[in-house]
Amino acid sequence: MKSVLITGANRSIGLEITKQLSKKGVFVYLGTRDLEKGNKVVKQLNEDGYENIKAIQIDVTNQASILAAKAIVENEQGKLDILINNAGISGEFPQNASDTNIEAIQNVFDTNFFGVISVTQAFLELLKKSESPRISNITSGLGSLTLHSDPTWKYYNFKSAAYGTSKAALNAYTINLAYELKDLSFKVNAIDPGYTATDFNHHSGPGTIESAASFIIKHTLTDDSAPTGQFYSNDIEDETGISPW
Ligand SMILES: NC(=O)c1ccc[n+]([C@@H]2O[C@H](COP(=O)([O-])OP(=O)(O)OC[C@H]3O[C@@H](n4cnc5c(N)ncnc54)[C@H](OP(=O)(O)O)[C@@H]3O)[C@@H](O)[C@H]2O)c1
Repeated sequence: MKSVLITGANRSIGLEITKQLSKKGVFVYLGTRDLEKGNKVVKQLNEDGYENIKAIQIDVTNQASILAAKAIVENEQGKLDILINNAGISGEFPQNASDTNIEAIQNVFDTNFFGVISVTQAFLELLKKSESPRISNITSGLGSLTLHSDPTWKYYNFKSAAYGTSKAALNAYTINLAYELKDLSFKVNAIDPGYTATDFNHHSGPGTIESAASFIIKHTLTDDSAPTGQFYSNDIEDETGISPW
C-alpha cells in the first residue's frame, strides 16, 4: 500500500485530498498542527467509511515536530511514497508592495516557503526509498510572474506582496528540486488547486474542494513517463492544465 503525508490536512483542501486518496487505497498521514483535533477528524472520517488514515502532528514551521513526524513514518512504513506540501497561509491584508511590514512577509514565507523546504528535506531520505516518489508543492496562480504581469489576466488585480511572492519563491524552489532529482524516479511539481471556496479566502472562491483535490491528485498520482518540474493550475482552462511560471 502506498503512503502519503499531507501537511495541513485537518480541514479544507488537505482534508478533501485525504478523503479522495483514502478511497484510492493510499495510506494517509493526515498532517495536523493540533493532534487532538486531527484525531477527532480521523474518527469522523472512519465513521464516514474512510480507512487507512492516521493523524500525525506536524507544524511546518517547527523543526522538532517535522523530525518527530519523520520518525513515526520511518518506524511504521520505512519509506514514504508521496509528499503533498499543502499547508499554507495567506497572511494579513492589505499586502501592498510599498509598505507591507517585513515581519508579516517573513511570517508567510516561514510557512509557505521555508516550511515546505524543511519538510521536504527531512522526508527526502524516506521518499528515496519509494519506487516512484512524488512531491507536490501546492502553489497558487498568484505565484505566476507571467500571469501577474499580464493586465488581461482575470486575477491581475489580486496582488499580494507576502502571499504571492511566497508562492513565486516556492515555484522557483520546485524547479530547483525537480532538476536535482530528475535522474531518479521522482516527479516534483507545483500544483495550483485554483481559486477555491475554503476558510483561506472566507469561502469567496468559485471552485470546490472536490475539484481542487481531484486536480492535485491527478497531477500527483502520475505514471513514470509523466513530466517533472511542471506548474499545473486548475484555473487554466485546457486539458494540459499547464500554467506559465
Ligand atoms: N483556497 C484557495 O483558493 C487556494 C488557491 C490557491 C492555492 N491555495 C493553496 O492551497 C493550500 C491549502 O489551502 P486551503 O484553502 O485549504 O487553506 P485553509 O483552509 O486555510 O487550510 C490551511 C491548512 O493549513 C494548515 N496550516 C497552516 N499553517 C500551518 C503550519 N505552520 N503547519 C502545518 N499546517 C499549517 C491549517 O491548519 P490549522 O487548522 O491548524 O490552521 C489548515 O489545515 C495552501 O497552500 C494554499 O496556499 C489555496
